[in-house]
Amino acid sequence: MDIRTALKQGIAQLRAANVSSHTLTAELLLLHATGRTRTSLYSHPEDQLTESESQNYFSMIERRTAGVPTQHLTGKQEFWGLEFEVTPEVLIPRPETEHVIEVALDRLALRDLRSKQTQNMSGEGLLVADIGTGSGCVAIALAKELPAARIFALDISPAALTVAQRNATRLGFSDRLIFLESNLLSGVATARARYIAPLLGNSRSFETYASRIASHESPVTGQESLLFDLIVSNPPYVARREATTLATEVRNHEPAIALFGGEEGYELYADLITQSAGHLKPGGILVLELGHDSLPAVQPLLDTASWTNIGVTNDLAGVPRVLSAERTTT
Ligand SMILES: C[S@@+](CC[C@H](N)C(=O)[O-])C[C@H]1O[C@@H](n2cnc3c(N)ncnc32)[C@H](O)[C@@H]1O
Repeated sequence: MDIRTALKQGIAQLRAANVSSHTLTAELLLLHATGRTRTSLYSHPEDQLTESESQNYFSMIERRTAGVPTQHLTGKQEFWGLEFEVTPEVLIPRPETEHVIEVALDRLALRDLRSKQTQNMSGEGLLVADIGTGSGCVAIALAKELPAARIFALDISPAALTVAQRNATRLGFSDRLIFLESNLLSGVATARARYIAPLLGNSRSFETYASRIASHESPVTGQESLLFDLIVSNPPYVARREATTLATEVRNHEPAIALFGGEEGYELYADLITQSAGHLKPGGILVLELGHDSLPAVQPLLDTASWTNIGVTNDLAGVPRVLSAERTTT
C-alpha cells in the first residue's frame, strides 16, 4: 500500500469512530510507524509502505479507535517546545499548563523589578519545587528557562518519577533536578534532614545532594531549613463526581492519581497551600494550576496573613486557570 492510500484509509477509520482531529491523528501515527518526516510523507505519497510499517500503522489506528490516546501510541507529547516521553503512568502534558510556566517566569521578573534588583534571568541561586511533577514537563520547562536554578521535582507516584527522570536525562537537565517521592511537600523535610542539611554547611553542591538522594545513603540529621523561592504545582483537580463526563481516552487511560483531587476536585489545595506557606522564603512565589471551576473554592484559601499580591490568569478559553501569590515577608 502507498502512503497516500494508507493516510486516506486511516483518516476514514478514525472519522467513522468519531475520533477528534482524525486527519492530524492519522498523520501522526503514520509518521510514527514509518519514522519519516512530514515533508517526506507529503513529497513522496506514492512510496510503498513495508509490510511491518503497514501492520504497525493500522494496528495503531485500530487501538486509537478503541480509545487509546495518540500519545500512548507514539509515546510522546510536545510541551514548551520540548518533546516529552509519556506513558500510561503519567498525565499527558496539556497546553494550558504552559500558563503555569509563563506566570512563574513573569512573577519572578516582576519581583526583581519591584525590589529594584537586576533581573535574575538565569535563575542563579533560585530553589524551585514542582509538586506533582508527572512527566516532569513543568520542572524541565523551568529548568530550560532558568538555566542556573535548582529544582526539586516531587511526586507521590514512583512510576511517574521514573518517567520524569528519563525525560530530564534525555533532554539534558538531570544535573539541576532532584526527583523525590513525596506526598505534597512532606518528602522535602525528610530529604533535608537525611541528605541536604549536612551538606548546606560545606559543599552546597546540588549534584552532591542529588547523588546522595539517588543512592539512598544512610540518614544524617541537620537543622538548616530548606526554603524555596518558587513553588509550582498542577495538582490533580478533577472531581470524582464528574468522572463520567471525562472522555474515555482520559478516564480509561490516564492515571486516576493524576486526575482526581477528590469528590469535588479541589480537596488537595488546602494542604498544598498550607504546606507551601511553610516551605517558601518570605517573598517566595506560589503558582497553581486550577480546574475549570476551582477558583471560588481555592482563592479563599490564600489567607492575607501568609499571602499577598494574589493574581488570577485566564487560559486561552477564558477559564481562570492559574492562581498565583507571594508569601508575605512577615
Ligand atoms: C495533574 S498531574 C500533573 C502532572 C504534570 N505536572 C503536568 O502538569 O502535566 C498531577 C500529578 O500529581 C501527582 N500527585 C497526586 N497526588 C499527589 C500528592 N499528594 N503529592 C504529590 N504528588 C501527587 C500525580 O501522581 C500526578 O503526577
